[in-house]
Amino acid sequence: MQAEILDGVQMSRDILAGLKEQVAALKARYGRAPGLATILVGEDPASVSYVTRKVRTALDLEFHEVQETRPAAITQEELLSLVERYNQDPQIDGILVQLPLPASICEQAVVRAIDPGKDVDGFHPVNLGQMMQGLRESCYVPCTPAGIQEMLVRSGTVTDGAEVVVVGRSAIVGRPVAVLLGQKGPGANSTVTLVHTATRDLADHCRRADILIVAAGVPGLVRPDWIKPGATVIDVGVNRVGTHERTGKALLSGDVAFDEARLRAGRITPVPGGVGPMTIAMLMKNTVQAAWRHLES
Ligand code: GUN
Repeated sequence: MQAEILDGVQMSRDILAGLKEQVAALKARYGRAPGLATILVGEDPASVSYVTRKVRTALDLEFHEVQETRPAAITQEELLSLVERYNQDPQIDGILVQLPLPASICEQAVVRAIDPGKDVDGFHPVNLGQMMQGLRESCYVPCTPAGIQEMLVRSGTVTDGAEVVVVGRSAIVGRPVAVLLGQKGPGANSTVTLVHTATRDLADHCRRADILIVAAGVPGLVRPDWIKPGATVIDVGVNRVGTHERTGKALLSGDVAFDEARLRAGRITPVPGGVGPMTIAMLMKNTVQAAWRHLES
């Protein structure tokens, strides 16, 4: 069996095409585009690459995009006042501070400083709390979990009653996606197990999964014999495993041994080109939603 490849690039293109129409509608009705401020601190290559792609996508959608880059030596107070500037800016609907931040800065203090109504990453405790309460319509859902759920829906993967195993308990991916898929509603209603570094018999849990979501940050962690034949495998890992000889670009690998896993899974996401583009599409969707909310209120 060869698994169906879930093409995140194509799915995200479809989503962005719909958003482009909404941007046009916003401009026609209110005379301005959604505004997104992206803040990058330091020069971590992965963060630079993520932010570059987010900015490019925002510009493609003709957002009002403001990009702020600051050295890793920025103080927490300086960063907080930059965030506050965009909290107060009526042209800005969404604020994104790329994580991780340097160790000298308290990430939680920065995330909490963002106006929850502009927190298009969905990391503020107000948004996470509302997501936990199932108040999806009034909050911003974190982009990677939302992108994973969207991929499941668009690929026709049955989540209702499915055994879902999530590998990894990060605050950005593992924990929120486990909550989302366990809630009632389309693309959810699953029985979710969250496994992590202290889990005994990790492989045994994975073998029970109809849907296996892996966000561990360990290249090739999931071996093919951990996969139930026919399962849907969502690989969130983006691991830099080397450099391309000719282009000098980073060679990326997921958390799943892809070449072997695709012979066993029913559906599988590639790395790159799977979850990554969907995360960006969900960020754009949250920003368009923020603009509607701000302009209609
Ligand atoms: N770092 C890794 N993923 C993300 C994300 O989705 N948003 C932000 N702000 N930082 C990240």
